[in-house]
Amino acid sequence: MDAERHVAEVLPTHTPELFAAAVRRAADLLRAGEVVALPTETVYGLAANALDARAVAKIYEIKGRPAHNPIIVHVADFALARRCVSAWPEAAERLAKSFWPGPLTLVLPRASEIPNLVTAGGDTVGVRWPRHPFMQAVIRECGFPLAAPSANLSNQVSPTNAEHVRQGLGGRIPLIVDGGQSQVGIESTVVDVSGAGVRVLRPGMIHEAALAAALGELRWPIEEMSSQKSSEDARETLRSPGLLERHYAPTARLVVCAWRDDDDLLAQLAVYRAHAAHTFVIAHTRIPSGMNFGGVSVIPHDAEAYARALYGELHRCDAEGAELIAVEAPPSRPEWAAIADRLRRASA
Ligand code: TXA
Ligand code: MG
Repeated sequence: MDAERHVAEVLPTHTPELFAAAVRRAADLLRAGEVVALPTETVYGLAANALDARAVAKIYEIKGRPAHNPIIVHVADFALARRCVSAWPEAAERLAKSFWPGPLTLVLPRASEIPNLVTAGGDTVGVRWPRHPFMQAVIRECGFPLAAPSANLSNQVSPTNAEHVRQGLGGRIPLIVDGGQSQVGIESTVVDVSGAGVRVLRPGMIHEAALAAALGELRWPIEEMSSQKSSEDARETLRSPGLLERHYAPTARLVVCAWRDDDDLLAQLAVYRAHAAHTFVIAHTRIPSGMNFGGVSVIPHDAEAYARALYGELHRCDAEGAELIAVEAPPSRPEWAAIADRLRRASA
């Protein structure tokens, strides 16, 4: 089945008048059961009315998303969040109070009002109250929750600006709202609080120590999914299909490595047999110099700034025809865990 043909209208939001006009246009399309791309602080989302199964079906079709992968529901207040779920345990209360609005998705028992398509037939629903003012304004204007995965074709790198969305999906959707560069830059932390205990299903910039601090004495053994591997992963895939190994990947081959100096880097890259002109390096401490790489990007040695810049660099490498992307290994500190996770998946 072919997705309907469109040439996406791209609406700016940088004055109060433009912002208000874009809210009205997005809400009109969403009320009519259409799918539109909207900015969030993590990555851009491909949004539809979460209570309208036919609208949600279009999301799967447009993205080429497998039907077994559930979609996060976005809300803009606690009342709407509670309407999407059938239980609100103390752990959800504490995490939501600490991190909402923000880059945290809580997996909870679903309300019957949420269509099967949103939950991929499962008993739980992922709920997030995003911080981006545009997303909040549209949800308030609509009055219904918005189902929204990242606004990219399935298995590609998530978009962090409107142009990334236009390049990937511009021919398949009627509207892209330009809300600027996504300030977090990688996808939300997904935490399962639907059963006994708290499980991190997808690491994000709200890391384990921050979650534990918010949970206080409720601090059940937090099971950190990303630190375990292989057989565990295979089992977890069923619980959260977004954890499939190769995901968040650019078209080019991506390798993560640490090097002492330029010669060491060249020696390590030789095994991949890529032309220097088609090799791109993303570095944060040891910056290669005087070599004929297709490109060298320096991104800040600071986890938050790095996360904000990373996907933009991967999109740029792909756009410039990279065959090989060598990324300097990130530090192993907790605030870098989600970045390391995304790089590991992109290189799998
Ligand atoms: O930051 C984000 O989370 C962005 C923005 C748009 O909000 N959304 C996003 O959606 O990254 P998506 O669909 O690309 O990734 C959602 C992840 C997937 O790994 C999915 O399997 C998992 O969340 N997920 C969603 N609902 C779930 C549920 N009920 N149980 C377990 N995992 C769930
Ligand atoms: Mg995604």
